[in-house]
Amino acid sequence: MFITIEGMDGSGKTTALQRVKQYLEDLNYKVVMTREPGGLPLSEKIRELILNKDGVGMEPWTEALLFIAARKEHLEKVIKPYLEKGYIVISDRFMDSTTAYQGGARGLGVDYLNELQKNILQGFLPDLTLYFELSFEDAEKRLSARPEEKNRLDEEGRKFKEAVKLAFEELVVKEPNRITVIDASKSPEEVFEQTKKVILEKIELWKKEKR
Ligand code: TYD
Repeated sequence: MFITIEGMDGSGKTTALQRVKQYLEDLNYKVVMTREPGGLPLSEKIRELILNKDGVGMEPWTEALLFIAARKEHLEKVIKPYLEKGYIVISDRFMDSTTAYQGGARGLGVDYLNELQKNILQGFLPDLTLYFELSFEDAEKRLSARPEEKNRLDEEGRKFKEAVKLAFEELVVKEPNRITVIDASKSPEEVFEQTKKVILEKIELWKKEKR
């Protein structure tokens, strides 16, 4: 089963996921967590190219295509092999980030990038996507508590981030069967509980379908 986690920076998705991974492992599931952009040496290099604050800016399409290139490597070399070995693979960000950040906020087109990626990924979609929803204000508050982690995209202003959020919301409406919203404004404990519940329900459903 392939699960992806999406949301604004500062939404607490990484923290919740680490706990979910431990929880699923305690239930004897084999789980691997990975992240985008990154996940293997070539993709980490691409990540550095894109997110490095010292780097000069780049054309929106250059940025989008680099993210997609890193994703293709990640999919073929990390995600698929683990799925074939029976792991639950959880990716911290995947295709919807490119659709929201580059398609929405950079203005390349939400539908266009969503369709383009489905073609490039040859229809390989996540079984489940969790969208961690958080207001701009709450996300900024959390981010200011860890300034050392800010990357080139975190430095973008309110307009950019509101556009990212809007694009995610558009995706939630378009693909309700795949994407579930998690209320990330709640306490870490509650966010973990919501995340766990949605994933467990999906696993049960998935098991039934496979039988
Ligand atoms: P990262 O430090 O991993 O942020 P987070 O921990 O919040 O995921 O940085 C990833 C940044 O790259 C984040 O600002 C979102 C952005 N991004 C895109 O713009 N497009 C993409 O396709 C991906 C995967 C990430």
